[in-house]
Amino acid sequence: MPKLTFLGHSGFLVEGSKGRLVIDPFLTGNPLATAKPDDIEVDYIILTHGHGDHLGDTVEIALKNDATVIAPNELAHYCNGKGTKFHPMSIGGAYTFPFGRVKFTIAHHSSSTPDGVYAGQPAGVLINMDQKVLHHAGDTGLFMDMKLIGEMNQIDVSLLPIGDNFTMGINDAVKAAQFLKPELVVPIHYKTFDVIDVEPAEFAEKAHAQGIQVKVMDIGETISY
Ligand code: NI
Ligand code: MN
Repeated sequence: MPKLTFLGHSGFLVEGSKGRLVIDPFLTGNPLATAKPDDIEVDYIILTHGHGDHLGDTVEIALKNDATVIAPNELAHYCNGKGTKFHPMSIGGAYTFPFGRVKFTIAHHSSSTPDGVYAGQPAGVLINMDQKVLHHAGDTGLFMDMKLIGEMNQIDVSLLPIGDNFTMGINDAVKAAQFLKPELVVPIHYKTFDVIDVEPAEFAEKAHAQGIQVKVMDIGETISY
């Protein structure tokens, strides 16, 4: 069973039998994060988009670990320009890496780097590792095609933003969970900043009322899925 550790905001460490990776490692400058970039030992970094609260410490972690950055095309090239190994992908495409299979999905958002470089399309990501499917929605509003993603993938864990303002809020995230039909939802992208200060317990309550299983993870907490 793969292990999933919440790093805060949208960041997760994922450990499977064939490799370790980190998604959206925003640690430095994240007021709630407890891990430091030096703590992260991985082979791969997956990025949903270029915003600072997702790109985060990617370049430092990638260089220290000789890790490969898997990201939407322009963002992967941006990281490569900073010296990292890279694997560019685009929405709708999948590729089998040593640790498992990665597919990028659409996200309704924007994507540029903190220094103002256009970073291509923002994305969500499906990671098939050890016969388990992890879905990270990235930053996105609710969209109807989540229903198609749910129909075509037996999702074990879906990581869904609930913080509102920049992404889905609580009610839209409950609808997203109904479309995606995962075994478990973990809410993300809340409380880090004042404008996304929503209560995950309210999301859990509303989702439970629709028969959806929710795990509100503490920062630093690890679950198996
Ligand atoms: Ni964003
Ligand atoms: Mn964000």
